[in-house]
Amino acid sequence: MRKKIVAGNWKMNLNLQEGVALATELKAALAADKPNCDVVICTPFIHLATVADVVKNTVIGLGAENCADKEKGAYTGEVSAAQVKSTGAQYVILGHSERRAYYGETAEILKEKVNLALANGLKVIFCIGEVLEEREAGKQNEVVGAQLADSLFDLTDEQFANIILAYEPVWAIGTGKTATAEQAQDMHAFIRGCIAGRFGDAAENVSILYGGSCKPSNAKDIFSKPDVDGGLIGGAALKCEDFKGIIDAWK
Ligand code: PGA
Repeated sequence: MRKKIVAGNWKMNLNLQEGVALATELKAALAADKPNCDVVICTPFIHLATVADVVKNTVIGLGAENCADKEKGAYTGEVSAAQVKSTGAQYVILGHSERRAYYGETAEILKEKVNLALANGLKVIFCIGEVLEEREAGKQNEVVGAQLADSLFDLTDEQFANIILAYEPVWAIGTGKTATAEQAQDMHAFIRGCIAGRFGDAAENVSILYGGSCKPSNAKDIFSKPDVDGGLIGGAALKCEDFKGIIDAWK
């Protein structure tokens, strides 16, 4: 049975104190009312070590939002997968559309990052998704299929077991415009089919999350689809009540 997961992506929001306060609030909320799914928060690098202490021995997993494509050395300002792992984090988001669009992350760079993250024992939340013009041209499957193949298809079965996928249509991220549950299901089924073509039975075990303006009011509908295994949540992960509301969609 594949895992149901709700993961938060804080992006470049919240200072350290605010981040610790949010993690502490979430910890209390989930201790009082156990989630029916795995819960992960992905924070800026500077929060990781401190938040790791807050969420230690709780149901909350911790991840980074990125890591370097180099192992170590003279790469000023970069943070390696090994450094992420040493904070106590277990996950890393890679391939987010904001990284692809604003920081020029190519399929080749992402391949390096995925390899290093896996080699350092991190689980990878790998993001894929088309932009609006691609959807309007009916090219979403072609685009997403290529993103999967170009960065992940050289992995071994053993490596692939530590991949979580997140389908995030770029036109739905932070725009308030959510994909319909049917659009999400269609794409998730397509993605699972691509994975089956390359990794066989592993397709049944890989969790595929939906991301893009997911909120408490639409999460239940989206999560009700058979190939949607949870969500990657941006804006709504910044308020405990909203994030908890999405977690509760699994109840
Ligand atoms: P959003 O972001 O929920 O604010 O649309 C999702 C994401 O980018 O992961």
